[in-house]
Amino acid sequence: MNDGIMDPMKTIIKKVDPNQIDEKVILEAGNILKQGGLVAFPTETVYGLGANALDEEAAKKTYAAKGRPSDNPLIVHIADMQALEEIAVNIPPETEELAFHFWPGPLTMIFEKSGQVPYGTTGGLDTVAVRMPSDVIARELILAAGGFVSAPSANTSGRPSPTTAQHVQEDLDGKIEMILDGGSVDIGLESTILDMTVTPPMILRPGAVTVDMLEKVIGPVSVDETILGSESDQAPKAPGMKYRHYAPKAKLTIVEGTLREEVLAIRQLAYAAFREGKKIGIIATNETEIFYTHGLVKNIGSRENDKTIARNLYAVLREFDEEDVSEIYSESFAVQGIGNAIMNRLEKAAGHVRIFAAPIVKQQKYRRIIFLSNTDTSRGPMAAGLLKHQDLNQEYTIDSRGLVVLFPEPANQKAEAIMKSGQMTLEGHSSIALSADDLQEDTLILTMEDSQKWKVVSEYENIKNVYTLNEFTEDNTEIPNPYGQPLTAYGECYEIITKLIEKLTNKLNTFTQGGE
Ligand code: TXA
Ligand code: MG
Repeated sequence: MNDGIMDPMKTIIKKVDPNQIDEKVILEAGNILKQGGLVAFPTETVYGLGANALDEEAAKKTYAAKGRPSDNPLIVHIADMQALEEIAVNIPPETEELAFHFWPGPLTMIFEKSGQVPYGTTGGLDTVAVRMPSDVIARELILAAGGFVSAPSANTSGRPSPTTAQHVQEDLDGKIEMILDGGSVDIGLESTILDMTVTPPMILRPGAVTVDMLEKVIGPVSVDETILGSESDQAPKAPGMKYRHYAPKAKLTIVEGTLREEVLAIRQLAYAAFREGKKIGIIATNETEIFYTHGLVKNIGSRENDKTIARNLYAVLREFDEEDVSEIYSESFAVQGIGNAIMNRLEKAAGHVRIFAAPIVKQQKYRRIIFLSNTDTSRGPMAAGLLKHQDLNQEYTIDSRGLVVLFPEPANQKAEAIMKSGQMTLEGHSSIALSADDLQEDTLILTMEDSQKWKVVSEYENIKNVYTLNEFTEDNTEIPNPYGQPLTAYGECYEIITKLIEKLTNKLNTFTQGGE
């Protein structure tokens, strides 16, 4: 050892099939641990960086490999209940029930430590965190190593916990002896930590074993307030929770509101960034990903099954570190069940930066603009095509509709010819009749003529936001109907509409600053 700087070493990477464990590999890994070396291995929560928990020197190596402060204690992983009695003392009676229900599994319990456990492992504390993982590779490894394996998450300090062997390799290749590759983990977030040295027991870190699950077994448990949000100025009780675990390279902001508001707000932020020539990242879900039109969208899982979100969270955060995005916006997740743990980790990654969606959503009055004409074949499609080519500082869905559309028709050929002369096209256009579904709160309907406006107003009760195009743009130029007239009439019509669309653009663009 040269001043604690570790010599580069060759990290052995071994695939292990959990359904058919190669005992030779486990034996080899167990021996490395017995000799004071480091082996990363899968658990059902995240990958752990294993060392012999009863060996002070091995603990030092663990801290060095992770680049982690050594006052941050390690969890001791065991494979049977006898092992618990060797490393913990004054074990409270509820422990048995909890172990019966949740071990092996994603629950870590804190007890007073026995003399067997070196302070190097507990970061100088008189207590020890103990977990019995359910992952079969982990269990076999613990047994092969002599029964006590300390294991923090196998990431470099300050990065998301690893959920695949590749993540471990990214962070620790050349710094540890071996990585056991057992594929992707099941849960994806670190274990629930429950402090058994206080009454009632206190949750120091939320995980897959939830408050409700624990209370069903032992009655009331308390929750360390500091894990819930940004408001508390007290230090968390689990030393590791005080570190801002992981800050993505790009600033991460959690957007809060109803799901609809969150999507609309993030869409607006992404469009604004796009106009500034910046690219933002978006953490979206199965249910919402299709609604985003700008930004780099990553689907984190399904809201129907929040386990999928827990499983993908860290991988998605790691992926964003590889991407050139200036900021990342995330939707929020319900704080129920494992959702507590999801939001806890996400908030830590965001450094507790949250914004509310509603005020952002309010800044945009209209989200869709429909140009309404009689047959949706000439003036309406021309107006829609022209507006699509404008520089709009908010994003709109721009459509055209007709009042009398009996069957879908392509655009009028003369209208198309005129648009072509302006480097635009109506190719592929097919007329569509206006329907009740088109009349949403955030839709602005602009008609070509007065008569069309009155027709809509009389047909649909309570309809708002219907104007003639010239009324809305405060210009009294009538838009002539060129139907059945020569090409020049279409040309004149095009000129008039162009002028009105420019005025419309100016008006729409004032909404952004003014927030009408
Ligand atoms: O799911 C997990 O728990 C994973 C896998 C590998 O088992 N391990 C894990 O370890 O997340 P680590 O070291 O990344 O996080 C352990 C957390 C830290 O926040 C640490 O401060 C806390 O547990 N901790 C450990 N011993 C403690 C003790 N005696 N008192 C209070 N907190 C303790
Ligand atoms: Mg960790």
